[in-house]
Amino acid sequence: MGFDKKKFWENKILAWEKDRYRLEDDESTVKTDSSHIAGSSLQFRFEKSAELLKPHLDGKKILDIGCGTGIFYNELQDTNLAHYYGVDFSENAISEGKKKIAGTEKEKKCSLFVGSIEDFDFPECDVVLALGVLEWLENDELETLFKKTYPRKFLFPIAEKRVSITRWIHSIYVFFSYGWKSQGYVPKYHTTDEIIKIAEAVGYRDIKIFRHPRLRFGTFLYYFD
Ligand SMILES: C[S@@+](CC[C@H](N)C(=O)[O-])C[C@H]1O[C@@H](n2cnc3c(N)ncnc32)[C@H](O)[C@@H]1O
Repeated sequence: MGFDKKKFWENKILAWEKDRYRLEDDESTVKTDSSHIAGSSLQFRFEKSAELLKPHLDGKKILDIGCGTGIFYNELQDTNLAHYYGVDFSENAISEGKKKIAGTEKEKKCSLFVGSIEDFDFPECDVVLALGVLEWLENDELETLFKKTYPRKFLFPIAEKRVSITRWIHSIYVFFSYGWKSQGYVPKYHTTDEIIKIAEAVGYRDIKIFRHPRLRFGTFLYYFD
């Protein structure tokens, strides 16, 4: 039997969110803390993703793949978003997310589903986000992701395969913290060309690239007209 990825995330995601985003209260407000080595680039990635997406969300529907508890929806409260759909294969994450919005205003424009990229039927939506997800996918899952996303707008951060001391430190950290026991299920580094090739094979053109020192080896690939 292969490694159980779903179980890996069932056990990890709630503590991961709390730690990386410095969550301290029920509001699920992501805090920026540059002293937090593992979290600061992820907090920046979170905030920057919202900043890049917001101009494209007026009256639109967004699908957040690998959404965890759907925490990103909080970041979009000041937009005129039509609907937020979140999907994640972790049942713990989705039930926690549903619990947080139950009976609140947020519930009206938010639907959370348990499902994987392979089996989930994408709802009608305009923009697709997958934050912190592409580095966990095999090539066939990446192909499925782009096939199902096309021709929508997207924002897909990746862990970029490029010469970087922080990437090297990251790979050592990953190995010692869980990689030695996760049978090779660790974040994968991709070149932008590798991912763009998969996207172009399904029809995308003019995919844009965004890098920033605070993202370290993280890089955004996005398609907005
Ligand atoms: C690093 S976490 C990121 C969570 C959230 N997007 C964020 O950035 O805060 C990766 C998430 O992707 C989910 N995930 C990984 N592979 C998936 C797949 N094939 N289908 C659905 N969800 C997946 C995991 O359960 C986990 O919640």
